[in-house]
Amino acid sequence: ERQKHIRNFSIVAHIDHGKSTIADRILEQTQTVAERDMQNQLLDTMELERERGITIKLNAVEVHYQANDGENYIFHLIDTPGHVDFSYEVSRSLAAAEGAILVVDAAQGVEAQTLANVYLAIENDLEILPVINKIDLPAADPEMVKGEIEDLIGLDASDAVLVSAKQGIGIPALLERIVSDFPAPDGDLEAPLRALIFDSQYDAYRGVVVNIRVREGVVRPGDKVRMMNTGAEYEVTEVGVMSPNAQKRDYLMAGDVGYLTASIKDIQTTHSGDTVTLVSNPATEPLAGYQPMTPMVYSGLYPSDNAKYGDLREALEKLQLNDAALTFEPETSQALGFGYRVGFLGLLHMDVIQERLEREFDLDLVTTAPSVTYQVTTVDDEVLMIENPSELPEPQQIKEIQEPFIYGQIMVPNEYVGAVMELAQRKRGEFDTMEYLDENRVNVKYYLPLSEVIFNFFDKLKSSTRGYASLDYELSGYRKADLVKIDILLNSEKVDALSFIVHRDFAAERGRVITSKLKEIIPRQNFEIPVQAAIGNKILARTNIKAYRKDVTSKIHTGDPDRRAKLLDKQKRGKARMKSVGTVTVPQEAFMAVLQTD
Ligand code: GTP
Repeated sequence: ERQKHIRNFSIVAHIDHGKSTIADRILEQTQTVAERDMQNQLLDTMELERERGITIKLNAVEVHYQANDGENYIFHLIDTPGHVDFSYEVSRSLAAAEGAILVVDAAQGVEAQTLANVYLAIENDLEILPVINKIDLPAADPEMVKGEIEDLIGLDASDAVLVSAKQGIGIPALLERIVSDFPAPDGDLEAPLRALIFDSQYDAYRGVVVNIRVREGVVRPGDKVRMMNTGAEYEVTEVGVMSPNAQKRDYLMAGDVGYLTASIKDIQTTHSGDTVTLVSNPATEPLAGYQPMTPMVYSGLYPSDNAKYGDLREALEKLQLNDAALTFEPETSQALGFGYRVGFLGLLHMDVIQERLEREFDLDLVTTAPSVTYQVTTVDDEVLMIENPSELPEPQQIKEIQEPFIYGQIMVPNEYVGAVMELAQRKRGEFDTMEYLDENRVNVKYYLPLSEVIFNFFDKLKSSTRGYASLDYELSGYRKADLVKIDILLNSEKVDALSFIVHRDFAAERGRVITSKLKEIIPRQNFEIPVQAAIGNKILARTNIKAYRKDVTSKIHTGDPDRRAKLLDKQKRGKARMKSVGTVTVPQEAFMAVLQTD
């Protein structure tokens, strides 16, 4: 009976179309959060999310709503990120829901990630409720947006809900439509327990907090449960829901979205996508899990302080619980020592992981420039996958190098098509087709080398279209290319962590730019440092970092003690994210300089 009153749904949209603001309004209107506790983007609980104004993690919350029919309903609302790097969070949240609210900005219309996310919802067989947000904007054109939803997505948008999340318009209507449009969950309460793990967090006191969607059966504290894929068994200590803070419950049943804890200390036993069942009455088949994610880019992560290597491993393991797309394996660098080669879904993902490691685990890290995976065939016909440029075999050993390409869709107003094509061409893109979305907008489709896209393609795209272009992409396979490795030598010593791979046509130019960048970034020391870029033994570019004229460190020992302490403190902070490479001190920025070389 309770099941009939449950609605599980997710909110999907292109970035910035207003998902989080709509979620805020729903929490407010249903008094889930007391007025005094209300703050914007309430579900973006991570400090980083609030600072950047973006959603990174999915977040599930229980909301109680008394509908106009007089009945009380329970909503499980799952907010999701919009950025392409985090689309795996979207697919996980969709697997826990029956419905999806599709939010489209009334002024912007359907964008690249609107399509990508709505297709995920369709693949998951969800009921989709179109919502047109920001109708308060002067440029809002809900009728045009309805037309786009119908033409581009093929959904009936005639009765799309019109909303201004900012001004709170249309929210009561939206709540009613959630009740009437989305189906109630239907899992069998009598069947053996099957609950899908869609996320987890590590809590120092309670162990792993496992977020689950119960598909069948019931789970209670005291039950002995088994993770069907890893085989690990635990006694449940607590079950509950987030509303938005954790609230204990006596049980979770088929249809519920909530959490369980079981004093799980061994992180390795709990994976997103696994199924929880009861030891006493186990299900025979696990639920369909998730597709494992393929990282798009890799970079090396090294603790500034070599002694923190073990801490870094522990931090990565804990973060992996909360971020199933994160992969890592140990690597060593002559220059940087012991670290990890970490796989990411894109540069924003990389940035977020690095920040989370530093903030949540109090680590100081040096990150090397991101690289895609190259497929190298050697003269002996051995095929190698190279994730770290410094591991590329010597040129005479290489028969062929292939690099990953993406298939990209760029949605843009007519007038910017020329600019987009010029940019794509410059990035070694291959034009595929172009489709008119409506009179004013075009979907331009290109094959592009992933290595060019992950660097600064997106920023360039935005700046050359005054922010109007949106991009979505998927991997399309490997292609042969004329690529070379550029090594960087500091003080005549090759720094493996600074090597990068580039198309031969761009090699000389990039070599020049990077040496002069490094000259700006690396602080002067008390001897002259030659900076060179080379392919094999051939030097492409060279510059010198001049020596100090006199020893400035002696200044620290003069002056008043206050000032001296400040200087020392500044020096100490400056040390973080620096690495001594041989005789040269290299700041973090230097390892990323290659990203800014055009
Ligand atoms: P991500 O979580 O990063 O994908 O973004 P989001 O889709 O959750 O968007 P968010 O709710 O953060 O809103 C993006 C911006 O649009 C914010 O600056 C909001 O204040 C603004 N915004 C949201 N709803 C409305 C609206 O109805 N009208 C207007 N004018 N602005 C709105």
